[in-house]
Amino acid sequence: MPCRTAILISGSGTNLQSFIDKVGDGTLDLDLCLVFSNKPGAFGLERARKAGIPTACIEHGDFDDRESFDRAVAAVIDEARPDLIVLAGFMRILSPWFVQYYEGRIVNIHPALLPKYPGLNTHQRVLDAGDEWHGSTVHFVTEELDGGPRILAGRLRVDPAETADELQHRVQTVEHQIYPQAAGLVGSGRVEFVNGETWIDGEVAEKPIVETFD
Ligand code: GRF
Repeated sequence: MPCRTAILISGSGTNLQSFIDKVGDGTLDLDLCLVFSNKPGAFGLERARKAGIPTACIEHGDFDDRESFDRAVAAVIDEARPDLIVLAGFMRILSPWFVQYYEGRIVNIHPALLPKYPGLNTHQRVLDAGDEWHGSTVHFVTEELDGGPRILAGRLRVDPAETADELQHRVQTVEHQIYPQAAGLVGSGRVEFVNGETWIDGEVAEKPIVETFD
């Protein structure tokens, strides 16, 4: 049975689309059981509907605090019975309650070669620093923002003449490859979260898998 997977979005959902396409062409063995958004206008909801995936939306403005919103989201997620939760541009900081409740079952993608550049504006920061390499990292979610154990990183060489927008576009193309791949590894059980660390094929992984792109 493919791993039941819920994808949480807030925006355009190009990463979500890469999951939909790869499940559709048979190269990714996940059962996409829910797409959840905190924004009713998120284009990713359209993508999900078109693909026949159940959708749900709750707006965070209706709640007094972060945890009450997260508890309402978890109630909706649990109805879909996912084994894996994929954050794909979900622009909310999760409460410690939510992270603990789903510990070891939530993954995120961050557009930087973690542990470098947690937080926002990563592409411009990389250009400003004159880095040779940039990319994106899939990691398990813990309470530390962008700080959970890493699974898979995709890297590419920075062209010092490119703009932050151009670099972002190239990094997104990498994300569309590595995110479904990493989620597939978790879904198949080859990659696991054990005692706060990533395990790959039954061994603790000191470093993420790294793939290089053009
Ligand atoms: C991605 O670039 C990801 O790194 C970040 O949010 C963005 C989502 O983009 N966490 P999209 O909605 O999948 O197009």
